[in-house]
Formats: sequence, C-alpha cells, structure tokens
Amino acid sequence: MEKKLRVGILGATGMVGQRFIALLENHPWFEVVTVAASPRSAGKTYEEAVGGRWKMDTPMPEAVKKLVVLNVNEVEKVASTVDFVFSAVDMTKEEIKAIEEAYAKTETPVVSNNSAHRWTPDVPMVVPEINAEHFGVIKDQKKRLGTQRGFIAVKPNCSIQSYAPCLAAWKEFGPKELVVTTYQAISGAGKTFKDWPEMEGNIIPYIGGEEEKSEKEPLRVLGKVENGQIVMADSPKITCQCVRVPVLNGHTAAVFINFEKKPSKEELIEKLVTFKGFPQEAELPSAPKQFIQYLEEENRPQVTLDVNYENGMGVSIGRLREDSIYDYKFIGLSHNTVRGAAGGAVLCAEALTAKGYIQAK
Ligand SMILES: NC(=O)c1ccc[n+]([C@@H]2O[C@H](COP(=O)([O-])OP(=O)(O)OC[C@H]3O[C@@H](n4cnc5c(N)ncnc54)[C@H](OP(=O)(O)O)[C@@H]3O)[C@@H](O)[C@H]2O)c1
Repeated sequence: MEKKLRVGILGATGMVGQRFIALLENHPWFEVVTVAASPRSAGKTYEEAVGGRWKMDTPMPEAVKKLVVLNVNEVEKVASTVDFVFSAVDMTKEEIKAIEEAYAKTETPVVSNNSAHRWTPDVPMVVPEINAEHFGVIKDQKKRLGTQRGFIAVKPNCSIQSYAPCLAAWKEFGPKELVVTTYQAISGAGKTFKDWPEMEGNIIPYIGGEEEKSEKEPLRVLGKVENGQIVMADSPKITCQCVRVPVLNGHTAAVFINFEKKPSKEELIEKLVTFKGFPQEAELPSAPKQFIQYLEEENRPQVTLDVNYENGMGVSIGRLREDSIYDYKFIGLSHNTVRGAAGGAVLCAEALTAKGYIQAK
C-alpha cells in the first residue's frame, strides 16, 4: 500500500480501544490519526485521558500519546479526519446503532466491535476465515443508507470464537447438536483484577446476554446471503452456559457435539488443521498462518500456554475424544480481546481493504 489509510478509533480510551491502539502500532496499511471517546475525555491528550487506565502489556505507543481526544458525538468533525473508523464505544444499544449509522452516512466505513448492529439484516457479521463472502450485502446496505462508500461491518461476540471455527471446518460432516459451556475471562467485561478484585478465586455463573449470543451468532456466521440480507443457517442446534472465571485473557469452551455423519477423530483433526480462508489466501497482515491448531497433549489447550497462539489470532483445540452420549467432545480456546475483539475487527478491515470496500477518501 503506497499511503497508509487514516484510521479513527471510537471508544479509544476503553479496554478494546486500547487493544486497537496496541495492535495498530506499526500496522503496514493503517495509521491511527484520530482517537475519540466520551465528552469526559474530549479535549485532553490521549495520555491524559487514559491516565492510569492503560491495561495493555506493551507501553502506550508514542504516536498516540499527544493526540487530542475528540468527542465521539461530534460525528462530522471526527469523520472529516479519517478514511474509516473502528468502533468500540460503550453506550446504549440504540445510541450505538444511531451513531454508527451516522458515521456511515458521512461516507466513513465503520468496522465495529459492538453488538448493536449484529442482527441488522444487511450488516455483515464476519469471521474472515469463515464468511468473507457476506461482505457482499454491503452493496444493499449502501442502497438503504444512501451512501457511496459508507457502511457498517461487524465482528461477532468474543465467546463464539473458541468453537464456531470448528463448525465451519467440519461443515461436510453436518454438525447437528452442540452443548457448550464457556469459561470467560474478566477482560471480556473490560476489567482487570485490579478493578474487579471480587473475581480473584471466584466463579460467577452469569454473564448478561451472553448465552443467547453464543447460541445464535454462530448460525448467522454460518448463514448465507439471500436477497440482500444474511439468512441464518438452521443448524446446528446450540445450547450454551456462560461462566465468568478468574482468568485475565482467554475464553475457553467445553463442547459436546453430534454430527449427521459421524466422522473419525483423524478426519476431524485433519479438517481443523488444514482449515483456511480468505485471510490466508490473501496473506492479510494480521492473518494467522494457521488459523486452528490441534494440541495432542491431554492437558492442553491451557490459557497461560496457548492464549497467544499466532499472536492471539489463532484458535487452539484439544482433548477431542468420543463421548458416551454425544458423538465427540473437545475443548477450545481463543484470545477474547485479540481474535475475539480488536484483532478480529482489524482482520475484517484488512479483508475489506483487500476486497476494495475500504479506500482512501
Ligand atoms: N472487552 C471485550 O473483550 C469486549 C469484547 C467484545 C465486545 N466488547 C464491547 O466493546 C465495547 C467497548 O468495550 P470495552 O470493554 O472497551 O469498554 P470500556 O473499557 O468501558 O470503554 C468504553 C469506551 O466508550 C467510551 N464511552 C463511554 N460512554 C460514552 C458516551 N456516552 N459517549 C461516547 N463515548 C463513551 C469510553 O470513553 P471514556 O473513557 O471517555 O469514558 C471508552 O472509550 C462494549 O460495547 C463492549 O460490550 C468488549
């Protein structure tokens, strides 16, 4: 790319916003030129606005420290400085829906981490290895919005990344029924142990809204484009329990699965480790070389050993074995704030750029 695309981050001071800042440092295609947050932060430098809230392992990049934070709600002003934006604001669903549409209508593509538009029929919800062809609905969305280049694309919830990729890899065997339990990290709630000390040594058996997302979102990702809308797949049936556990980063899933045509264990592993999609074919900058790894050791995947596989962009699967009630059971792990949030959105933006949907204004 001759000249980098100018990027704005909405919600730049939050947990996911900070992850965007960290991931985009030295990105070959994108440069963060604008950071925006609530009116509380607007007018301060990024360094002042974040203050002691910086939660990344790497230091705050020098290039953003002195950027003056803009107010997310001043849409025209923010949009005039960038080619596209990543959205990670925390507002009500209705407010997020409205503000993301307002950005799109300024002819600014929005790649969103939020759930607000995940069920808008002409908004693609994409894991680029699985359903990059869903970006095809953007032309219909632009008609609705009356835009030439502005649109919204979203990535799915962090909880599904530890098992939904397997369903795509195993498609030919007809995944029929899934019973899933997720063990979810506290960073998924935007927290560390410092700001959520009650989570130390604790388990909380409830994460608001998460079970419904975990059961339904995989079906939208596995769905197809029909008459300018995404139509959900009608299988597999998924039931899920989501549990918050005392882990900083990394969502684990324990899964039982039935198939239409029961394959052998070797066939299942072969399909996982050879599974790839558009990011690998197009060699996108953030694409994991191997999306899914299979670990043979019986005590893997482990959060501390495996969460950063492929820089947090890959998925680790292990303990695949036959079950006495279901066909098989297995364990999956993915990084919730990298692949499950900012990293997944960066990969979507790279795919959208490679396919010509995002260009310099
Ligand atoms: N954490 C995860 O792993 C994860 C995964 C998937 C999806 N998400 C979703 O991503 C979004 C951000 O999550 P987070 O964990 O990064 O939240 P967070 O740490 O609380 O950050 C929220 C961001 O939104 C801004 N904001 C809050 N109220 C605002 C308002 N009224 N107007 C404009 N900006 C406002 C904040 O700005 P100030 O600093 O100025 O207050 C901050 O930049 C949420 O919708 C969350 O559900 C999070």
